[in-house]
Amino acid sequence: MADYVLAIDQGTTSSRAIVFDHSGRIVSTGQLEHEQIFPRAGWVEHNAEQIWTNVREVVGLALTRGNLSHEDLAAIGITNQRETAVVWDKNTGKPVYNAIVWQDTRTQAIADELGGSEGPDKYKSIVGLPLATYFSGPKVKWILDNVDGAREAAERGDLLFGNTDTWVLWNMTGGPDGGVHVTDVTNASRTMLMDLDTLSWREDIAADMGIPMSMLPEIRSSSEVYGQGRPRGLVPGVPIAGILGDQQAATFGQACFEVGTAKNTYGTGNFMLLNTGTEKVASKNGLLTTVCYKIGDQEARYALEGSIAVTGSLIQWLRDNLGMFEDAPDVEWLARKVEDNGGAYFVPAFSGLFAPYWRPDARGALVGLTRYVNRNHIARASLEAVAYQSREVADAMRLDSGVELTELKVDGGMVQNELLMQFQADQLGVDVVRPKVAETTALGAAYAAGIAVGFWKGEEDVVANWAEDKRWTPVVAEDERERLYRSWKKAVTKTFDWVDADVQ
Ligand SMILES: Nc1ncnc2c1ncn2[C@@H]1O[C@H](COP(=O)(O)OP(=O)(O)OP(=O)(O)O)[C@@H](O)[C@H]1O
Ligand SMILES: [Mg+2]
Repeated sequence: MADYVLAIDQGTTSSRAIVFDHSGRIVSTGQLEHEQIFPRAGWVEHNAEQIWTNVREVVGLALTRGNLSHEDLAAIGITNQRETAVVWDKNTGKPVYNAIVWQDTRTQAIADELGGSEGPDKYKSIVGLPLATYFSGPKVKWILDNVDGAREAAERGDLLFGNTDTWVLWNMTGGPDGGVHVTDVTNASRTMLMDLDTLSWREDIAADMGIPMSMLPEIRSSSEVYGQGRPRGLVPGVPIAGILGDQQAATFGQACFEVGTAKNTYGTGNFMLLNTGTEKVASKNGLLTTVCYKIGDQEARYALEGSIAVTGSLIQWLRDNLGMFEDAPDVEWLARKVEDNGGAYFVPAFSGLFAPYWRPDARGALVGLTRYVNRNHIARASLEAVAYQSREVADAMRLDSGVELTELKVDGGMVQNELLMQFQADQLGVDVVRPKVAETTALGAAYAAGIAVGFWKGEEDVVANWAEDKRWTPVVAEDERERLYRSWKKAVTKTFDWVDADVQ
């Protein structure tokens, strides 16, 4: 009996496989981290073959731990780190270069050149995005420009591009032996190559970037059967029936189906999405316009998105680069040893600043230091930075949409941090609400797949299954809240204008 749905969450730091039952509860999981490769300052790569091996392994782990076989699965959904670009040879299945990760800043010169005299907003009215290092298209151009023989192979039709959803799907469905080369509208909306109105590739923009159309996957909805698993993916015959970029998947899993509902995910970075329904809202305040989801033949739903590059990864940085503690959750214990930030503000502009600033010339800064500041203050300043950045994005959303936030649904690894959640509620001035299943990214992909095969009826099942776990209500005094935020805003300005052409 196929009583379960499996979601594969191919994330930035790890790949997970999670089995869900009909009530949306977790039955079993498998998770493996992959290597973060930093060849130079500002460059971030993943080994796509390691990612595929890990995906197979975590699928095996989740099935084994749940005492299940592929026959117990009604469908499989895929969710993924978006924008990260993989280019591979369709005959051998080998990537021609490491995956270039969304955080990587090497394409700044390409972005500047593409913008020319029109600047970073050249394609914004078509694709919803400013020219920035973040998105996939310029990363593909970089690979074709810099890897020996890549452009010729691409022009011969031998190379394929995909975000990691496409890479995983192609491998699961046969790889060189008939693999399906498809992506969904949400992933496509992160490439800078898709027209948000027609939901199809723009040949003119692909031509500007020198990307042959034959490399691009077919764009499909987020919830439909794309193909069947093959033995190499451990799930022979199981329909793969849902794809959503990780942030859109979390929005789906949080049941943000009504216009004006929003969620904020606290993972490697933070990403707030506000559902704007069938209307495509252009941002005047540094947000992105993106596809939220599209179920089968139904109309696409759009979202405004505030993307923050560095939040959870700042905690990893304290752990790995400064050796401040062993495990990410320990940061809370350090931060609780002090009453406040001691005057220190940490602006983690490690990849420049994303929303709402889009300042590639910024780099990280720890400011306000005196002899008084110790590592506990720095731990606290790092957590506060996550909340201030999210407040900036929430402010931009209010300005763009006119919707007043009444509460914020949150998810992701950092929402276990109670100090952060309370501070977030204090900074936003509204309640912060955590659901029972905090793995909303995987859950959203499972729902998209399950809805496609009739395992779930539709969004109403997602709404019915959503349950609140915990709520934080603001307690801080207004003047204190604004004083802190004012200092944060000042700290942000100290990071601007750092990168020169000859200094990274
Ligand atoms: N208790 C905690 N306090 C602070 N930060 C935490 C805590 N637990 C986890 N984190 C941070 O949260 C992040 C992990 O969150 P999550 O598992 O949602 O990310 P992820 O889904 O693996 O990211 P990605 O999808 O990008 O791979 C890590 O960056 C880690 O440093
Ligand atoms: Mg994730």
